[in-house]
Amino acid sequence: MSALFTPFKLKDVTLRNRVAVPPMCQYSATDGYISDWHVPHYTGMARGGAGLVIVEATGVSPEGRITPACTGLWEDGQIDGMARIASAIKAGGAVAGIQIGHAGRKASANRPWEGDDHIPEGDPRGWETISPSAVAFGGGLPRVPRAMTIEDIARVKADFVAAARRALDAGFEWLELHFAHGYLGQSFFSVHANQRTDSYGGDFEGRSRFLLETLAAVREVWPERFPLTARFGVIEYDGRDEETLSESIELTRRFRAGGLDLLNVSVGFSTKDARVPWAPAFLAPVSARVRKETGLPVATSWGMADAQDAETGIATGQMDLAMIGRALLANPHYPYALAQQLGVADPEWTTLPAPYAHWLARYGGPGKEAVKQAAE
Ligand SMILES: Cc1cc2nc3c(=O)[nH]c(=O)nc-3n(C[C@H](O)[C@H](O)[C@H](O)COP(=O)(O)O)c2cc1C
Repeated sequence: MSALFTPFKLKDVTLRNRVAVPPMCQYSATDGYISDWHVPHYTGMARGGAGLVIVEATGVSPEGRITPACTGLWEDGQIDGMARIASAIKAGGAVAGIQIGHAGRKASANRPWEGDDHIPEGDPRGWETISPSAVAFGGGLPRVPRAMTIEDIARVKADFVAAARRALDAGFEWLELHFAHGYLGQSFFSVHANQRTDSYGGDFEGRSRFLLETLAAVREVWPERFPLTARFGVIEYDGRDEETLSESIELTRRFRAGGLDLLNVSVGFSTKDARVPWAPAFLAPVSARVRKETGLPVATSWGMADAQDAETGIATGQMDLAMIGRALLANPHYPYALAQQLGVADPEWTTLPAPYAHWLARYGGPGKEAVKQAAE
């Protein structure tokens, strides 16, 4: 019996297993509208057998996109395309989730394969960036953002709420607020980015305010029956890790009190001077601590693709969901391989759609012997 392949119920939503596809930007949209790339891509992710597929970071406003090619949900016209994606994910047997966010000072960048750096100032493809304070990230992202006014803060919160409504209209049943990776939400919390002296900066209370207020505002429009989750970088690996982690755990307790249903535990990426200890499953002990000390269900990613790591992570209560990204880009049917490795009974029927499962269950994998048998 595999822990990874047991269902997971959260609110009124049940995932068929604990493998989740984390949000992964495809940088293939125009003006926030999806292209011909997206529906087949997400169809493949869902047909591959994961329990949950979360659609890529989707801008709550044009200025909130990471790159000009990111998806958006800032206008009603964008709902139709997203509805096609949500419906394709459901048809593939997975729960349809979406991450909404604002890229803050890391916005207005080139696509990763075109530099992954800020679009030069003055280039018409770019735009003014905003952040809690006028402090640049640095390195390849040198653009100095405009410090947000109180009106900006109110507008961005309203943008999150409007995007959440549109996500619901599009048919998504799982919402993830992007409060991680050095984007806007994370920047409010981070001492590396937030030097405000008003009520949205300074001490823990001040740096938490934007995130808690955004959560509260979205909670009012996102139905109780569907999970409301967030991705948050609980640690920066910047030399002050215990302090950050303790603060993050306290904030997660407040998220929980504010109606959050699950935390997707990640890294802050608020400073280019971080020393991230990259290794398989390196966040598993961190996510275990967040789960234990807050009582909130958690998911985590980054190097969780090894079958035994994912299985152990779930079986020992380090996490409720294992998010597996790049392995599924390489092979959308990766959950089938996981099920085989973990000795799940009928792995084909557990992870593959019938038109594939029948043949593989009957004749085995794609080796020469199987081809011969199928031909007989
Ligand atoms: C192509 C690509 C795009 C990504 N886009 C996002 C994103 O939109 N939002 C996000 O929170 N993380 C994003 N990430 C990070 C992934 O969600 C995930 O955490 C990361 O790939 C580590 O998991 P893995 O080791 O299984 O690939 C992206 C990663 C990749 C490879």
